[in-house]
Amino acid sequence: MAATPIAVVTGASSGIGAATARTLAAEGFRVVLTARRKDRVEALAAELNEAGHQATAYQLDVTDRAAVDEFATAFRTLAVLVNNAGGALGADPVATGDPADWRQMYETNVIGTLNVTQALLPALTASGDGTIVILSSTAALAAYEGGGGYVAAKHGEHVLAETLRLEIVGTPVRVIEVAPGMVRTEEFATTRFRGDTEKAAKVYAGVAAPLTAEDVADTIGWAVTRPSHVNIDLLVVRPRAQASNTKVHREL
Ligand SMILES: NC(=O)c1ccc[n+]([C@@H]2O[C@H](COP(=O)([O-])OP(=O)(O)OC[C@H]3O[C@@H](n4cnc5c(N)ncnc54)[C@H](OP(=O)(O)O)[C@@H]3O)[C@@H](O)[C@H]2O)c1
Repeated sequence: MAATPIAVVTGASSGIGAATARTLAAEGFRVVLTARRKDRVEALAAELNEAGHQATAYQLDVTDRAAVDEFATAFRTLAVLVNNAGGALGADPVATGDPADWRQMYETNVIGTLNVTQALLPALTASGDGTIVILSSTAALAAYEGGGGYVAAKHGEHVLAETLRLEIVGTPVRVIEVAPGMVRTEEFATTRFRGDTEKAAKVYAGVAAPLTAEDVADTIGWAVTRPSHVNIDLLVVRPRAQASNTKVHREL
């Protein structure tokens, strides 16, 4: 009997990562949930196991290369890696943005993705049919005022995806980039505004139906379950109310 394919999801403690872990578990993958908050990934893994799926939890900070390398030793073979861990900090203009925020966003979104991808690439290749998903953003494709550091970091992640795809063509690993627009998750905007829930709520004000974490997870689940010879290079997904990063229909 063939072994159950394994999918690693980073940042699986909330939002899109948690929803993706649920979707991939339902698709029949053995999911490995990672994040810094151990209690949250453990609780989700327990819930999935209870429901008859196969899940394990692992505490991992994607910016800690030594920890990532140690984590990777557990995998001889790996079917799917979802690089989801990331996020935004602040919405200041370039003129006044804090360089520490810019650095942290680059560290998490770009170097974090680089760390985990480098460490797990041998196992993905050994599977004979590996898939890497990179969760960028529509901020990876166009700038917006106040987006500076996040836009720069997500552009970096986009370039990582594009370059890697060029470099590993001909090997048994495909690279899929999923770029969502506005997604209302419980923590993304609150983290961005450092706990200021009023500012966070304004992001979604008057938008009838922003995307949900489940919408993005559904997109990821679809992309990774395409036949092996099909590569979804880049998938942009937005709510109907959003035509661009700055053109949003609000009913206020
Ligand atoms: N929400 C949106 O509108 C939107 C739109 C486009 C793209 N995205 C992208 O989608 C991804 C998920 O966003 P989300 O909306 O689900 O946000 P979220 O709920 O804030 O989730 C972010 C996840 O990343 C993890 N994380 C952050 N830093 C980490 C680190 N150093 N090491 C390991 N894990 C880390 C967090 O877990 P711990 O804190 O437990 O480590 C959390 O699970 C991000 O890459 C984000 O940039 C979001």
